[in-house]
Amino acid sequence: MTTSASDTAGQVMDKKSFAAIAALAKEEAGLVLPEGKMTMVQSRLRKRLLATGQANYDSYYRFVSSADGASERRLMISALTTNVSHFFRESHHFDMLRTKVVPLLLQKARNGQRVRIWSAGCSSGQEPYSISMCLHEAAPELTSRDVLILGTDIDPAILEKAEAATYNDQQVSGIPNEMRSKYLEPDGRGQHRVNAEIKRIVRFRELNLLRDWPMKGQFDAIFCRNVVIYFDAATQASLWPRFRQHITKEGWIFLGHSERISDSALHLFEPNGMTAYRAAGSGSSAIKKD
Ligand SMILES: C[S@@+](CC[C@H](N)C(=O)[O-])C[C@H]1O[C@@H](n2cnc3c(N)ncnc32)[C@H](O)[C@@H]1O
Repeated sequence: MTTSASDTAGQVMDKKSFAAIAALAKEEAGLVLPEGKMTMVQSRLRKRLLATGQANYDSYYRFVSSADGASERRLMISALTTNVSHFFRESHHFDMLRTKVVPLLLQKARNGQRVRIWSAGCSSGQEPYSISMCLHEAAPELTSRDVLILGTDIDPAILEKAEAATYNDQQVSGIPNEMRSKYLEPDGRGQHRVNAEIKRIVRFRELNLLRDWPMKGQFDAIFCRNVVIYFDAATQASLWPRFRQHITKEGWIFLGHSERISDSALHLFEPNGMTAYRAAGSGSSAIKKD
């Protein structure tokens, strides 16, 4: 590997530094970085090398893995995560939300029960805001009840973007026209901001899926899409029972198009549509108290 002209730090990552950094990313965030990603990792960490003033990737690794490097570890993970997201991505899940999930949520809300939805790995907010728009469209009544959508992500920088809720033309192109005019407003700088009505039922928190999940109650639906694809099989397998504990007896979980619940956890969930599952035994649509 040769130093590229655009390598402003003037440093090339060698295999040893890459292996050490990849092991740290796996331990911290579950991210699997095969050797083929070395160029990508170097380019994503170049700005961290400059910002920390480290001479090369080996000394950067020594710093970031030291006790003094705790806050830099967060920034390193932030730089290494892939945050691509779109409004109404994998639209069949929003059709299911509208037709299969919302009727149950309405029944619960009318019984005075809370309704909770979790977007785990929410990136820059398009997923939780799409959920909020979908609920507003399907059942406006629901949104004046005890309903909350929690968006969590390991990456504090991307959560700031989610909170800002401001998107360019290309980013909002996935929102159907009639919703765009209802739920977006100009931000005064040529961009589009999600309006207060949609934001009101959405909350964001930093959360690493590999660590503790401090949420007390259960969720009626979890969207964890295009997140576990970055984890290995063992990490994925460790998450399914935890997700099961965090959904209600009738709860749903939606995964990304290339993700599946591991065989070892299929007794906990019933497949119900394309990369969609319900808690095993939920069968009927009867709503019981959680
Ligand atoms: C490709 S985005 C998916 C966004 C959205 N769910 C979607 O499908 O459009 C993956 C997100 O997962 C987050 N992520 C990666 N590892 C994580 C971890 N260990 N805990 C929580 N979030 C993580 C990343 O920061 C990133 O924002």
